[in-house]
Amino acid sequence: MNKITLLHEGKAKKVWQADDADLIIQEFKDDATAFNNKKKGSIADKGVTNNAIASRLFVMLGENGIPTHFVSKLNDRDMLCKKLDIVLIEVVTRNVAAGSLVRRYGFAEGTVLPKPIVELYLKNDDLDDPLMNEDHAVALGLGTYEEVAQLKEMAEKINALLVPWFAERHLRLVDFKLEFGRHKGEILLGDEISPDTCRFWDAESGEKLDKDRFRLDLGGVEDAYSEVKRRVLEQ
Ligand code: TMP
Ligand code: ASP
Repeated sequence: MNKITLLHEGKAKKVWQADDADLIIQEFKDDATAFNNKKKGSIADKGVTNNAIASRLFVMLGENGIPTHFVSKLNDRDMLCKKLDIVLIEVVTRNVAAGSLVRRYGFAEGTVLPKPIVELYLKNDDLDDPLMNEDHAVALGLGTYEEVAQLKEMAEKINALLVPWFAERHLRLVDFKLEFGRHKGEILLGDEISPDTCRFWDAESGEKLDKDRFRLDLGGVEDAYSEVKRRVLEQ
């Protein structure tokens, strides 16, 4: 499968049209940004690591009945995917309080939530991805109430699959962000699932093993990403 034209260059990936009109190639870059591009940098081999992690997770989720855009891992940095009409909603699922939940509502970091909290954000960098509810999403024409409910339901199912899967690998899944898209009348999970889009804490020590090491200048960023990759791929 060949890269034909560059359709889009995002902060962490390039998206290429593939030979087949229904398919695209996601090329994972080493570039890292945080706080909506205010902080920029690069994480050595992040593209290779995230492609490996995301590919493994898409296969696992697919085997468990979650429809995803994943077709195959082509090479170290490239993933072949079904072409999506992206839904401009970022769905964040939280099991433990961290990040913006702590800042916005005053939870103590590490508070275990009584049930997972699912949040919707508008995918719009110019507006800083504002938090929104179903009424905003429908009023903005991003989808129907049924579709938004389906995204939340899929996020909850994915969470229920990911939490024990990571726990077996001694990783606590604190929270994560998902993106979805439409393909031939079906809603599929898109984008990636990786230490860029999830918070992982070591189950025993609580050490942060995700992009927070970059966001918060904690050091050891590359080591954290490769440790997650090792645990994800070893089983
Ligand atoms: P937050 O606590 O900053 O709102 O982030 C919640 C989760 O979503 C966390 O796992 C990181 C992920 N995330 C992204 O993947 N992209 C983003 O742009 C943001 C803000 C968060
Ligand atoms: N992905 C976002 C950015 O590039 C925010 C983040 O992950 O913290 O700015």
